[in-house]
Amino acid sequence: MKWIAVLGAIALSACSGPSEDEATYDRYLERIIAANNLRPLPTKPYEETPKFKLGQALFFDPILSGNRDISCATCHLVGAGLSDGLPASIGSGGVGLGTSRERPRDRPAQPRNSLDLWNRDNNSVKSMFWDGRAEVLDPVNRKFRTPLGDLLPEGFENLMAVQAIFPLTQADEMLGLPGDASPGGNPPAHAGLVNEIAASVVDLEEPYRTAAVLDHVVSRLIGTPDTPPSHWELEYRRLFEKAFPGTSPEEVSIVHVGNALAHFEEIAFATRDTPWDRYLEGDMTAIGLEAKRGAFLFFGRGRCAVCHGGPLFSDFEFHSIGARPFGAGYDGQGHDTGRFRVTRRPADKFKFRTPPLRNVTLTAPYFHNGSAKTLDEAIRQHADPLQYADKYAESGEPLLQIDEIDSVSPILLIRVELARREIDYLVAFLMALEDDGIDRLEGVVPLGVPSQLPIHSTSGAGDIRGH
Ligand code: HEC
Ligand code: HEC
Repeated sequence: MKWIAVLGAIALSACSGPSEDEATYDRYLERIIAANNLRPLPTKPYEETPKFKLGQALFFDPILSGNRDISCATCHLVGAGLSDGLPASIGSGGVGLGTSRERPRDRPAQPRNSLDLWNRDNNSVKSMFWDGRAEVLDPVNRKFRTPLGDLLPEGFENLMAVQAIFPLTQADEMLGLPGDASPGGNPPAHAGLVNEIAASVVDLEEPYRTAAVLDHVVSRLIGTPDTPPSHWELEYRRLFEKAFPGTSPEEVSIVHVGNALAHFEEIAFATRDTPWDRYLEGDMTAIGLEAKRGAFLFFGRGRCAVCHGGPLFSDFEFHSIGARPFGAGYDGQGHDTGRFRVTRRPADKFKFRTPPLRNVTLTAPYFHNGSAKTLDEAIRQHADPLQYADKYAESGEPLLQIDEIDSVSPILLIRVELARREIDYLVAFLMALEDDGIDRLEGVVPLGVPSQLPIHSTSGAGDIRGH
């Protein structure tokens, strides 16, 4: 009898159809999918148009940085899921790449964890950055709110294009400091040059300083009418002309730079064909039983989808999950008031924009300050959002300030116990949101950039995974 039962079980599990348990989950999920109106993520076809090629050059070319030493790709590394593997990114002056990148002591600390760039053209993206400081006010008439206020030029095609101009203007990201010089090891045309962009704006107040930096960056790319163009200025003039036919070099502005960068990002950094999307298309075998259990928890009892809902698994609203102070923060003690820095509303203190979760498996460490090393740790923080409320820092001070404790989302204060295996199921579900991004992205790293400066892509980053 016993043997017959065992053989029966083997036969059942070996047959091609789902086991009864799995079929039950498929039925549960069918209802969840209908109730939440979940659909596969639409993506634009991959096409290397002239605008794509210009955006690609701009994304990888350190010529956009004050010291000619850092590009967008340095902190949004192809080999680290478009993040950089560090708790907080290290800007101009940093040495090395990925987890081995170091910040010399005289450089300002950039306080935040690098966000990834997957699918940020999606209509659900209402704001950019952990604190949402670049926002869409009116998508149809392309009205945006940013730290630049009225000085934000017209003509940006979308929020990603607007966002792209800000890293260029920050001393702790791409601008560097006045008095800096470009690395001596650069190719001769770029070695040991003063940071003329940072130096020329020292006397300006915001937002005029930012606006002036942006003008200088455009001159860096295409030159000025009174000096003979360098080899890269000629090349960029040609690329802008092809990407924006009918635009003469004199007409090129930071708006074209932003629009080209955004176009490249939207085509190159789309997640394509994840197991979860295939499951939504009706392929019941695209994800395994653990991921199905995880999906059931994610949309159900775990109530993750309350905040991580929508096509990118974010509501693009602001919440606090009680993440512990970590790293430098804005005050040097690891504290970061998040959304409050933008709105100045006390109710927004310590709140951060819900991070999207597609390809989240590739972008450890987690949270706005990189304080969670693994997905496991990140999920546990949600399950026990007050775990640091009664802990002390090395200084003897309470680890969390009173209003940090008060900020924690009421949604999470209703505790839901998650068993060890349930956290594993949730991680299995998050793994089903991963596409073959890293392998595919190797194909979008150009062989060279117009400046002929070295390209930062994967070397040194290794394969950084959060599970
Ligand atoms: C020094 C590292 C660094 C560099 C260089 C850098 N970024 Fe970022 N990027 C970050 C960090 C850190 C954040 C999050 C900052 C915050 O929220 O305050 C971010 C945020 C973003 C976001 C917002 C994503 C979202 O979900 O809101 C986009 C888009 C982006 N960067 C694109 C770019 C582009 C394009 C460039 C080049 C022009 C660039 N970055 C250069 C580190 C960097
Ligand atoms: C109240 C809204 C809310 C709920 C509910 C919620 N999250 Fe989050 N989640 C956030 C916010 C906000 C952050 C960023 C916190 C920070 O950086 O301080 C975050 C961060 C994360 C991260 C880290 C992502 C990254 O890129 O840093 C993961 C993973 C995650 N959540 C998964 C989950 C899972 C799984 C659940 C359900 C068990 C869940 N979340 C429930 C709001 C929420």
